[in-house]
Amino acid sequence: MINDVERILISEAQLAERIKELGAQITADYAGKEILAIGVLRGAVVFMADLTRAIKVPVAIDFMAVSSYGAGTDSSGVVRILKDLDENIEGRHLLIVEDIIDSGLTLTYLLENLKSRKPASIKLCTLLNKPERRKAEVQIDYNGFTVPDYFVVGYGLDFAEKYRNLPFIGILKPEVYK
Ligand code: XMP
Ligand code: MG
Repeated sequence: MINDVERILISEAQLAERIKELGAQITADYAGKEILAIGVLRGAVVFMADLTRAIKVPVAIDFMAVSSYGAGTDSSGVVRILKDLDENIEGRHLLIVEDIIDSGLTLTYLLENLKSRKPASIKLCTLLNKPERRKAEVQIDYNGFTVPDYFVVGYGLDFAEKYRNLPFIGILKPEVYK
């Protein structure tokens, strides 16, 4: 697994430090409120686990699964809900937790869908932001790291369901996915 990684882009220590900062910022912004964190399966699971524990106001969690990529590395632009929320979100403060915003197509669809269910507020927290490939403008409220246009894996992010359990964000060797 490690042999497929060309280099480490964000180390385990860098991830931990930045997530502590994000948690403190979110804690301050939501003082006196309760958050419903919505993780986008499956890539956001690892980030979600660490981020929610860095937040010191009450956090309920729920998950949604959407498809946009299949097993490849390019967005199809077609978004399908594979698993919907279990919670009723009306009147609640939603914090959407994503692994990476790339084209922005997935989040644009998701935000519109969630807004129609009348939450009190919606904010977006993404671990990674890859602005070079943006096709739809998305407002990011909390951004972990801005990354260049590489295909990255680890810390929840996969290629064909592999590498999610790497503890860092790494760049995959091009020959692995070409
Ligand atoms: P869009 O393009 O709609 O897609 O913003 C966001 C989703 O695409 C996946 N994605 C990646 N997954 N390494 C990955 O492992 C990457 O470099 C990458 N870029 C996009 C990811 O699932 C994200 O939620
Ligand atoms: Mg994802």
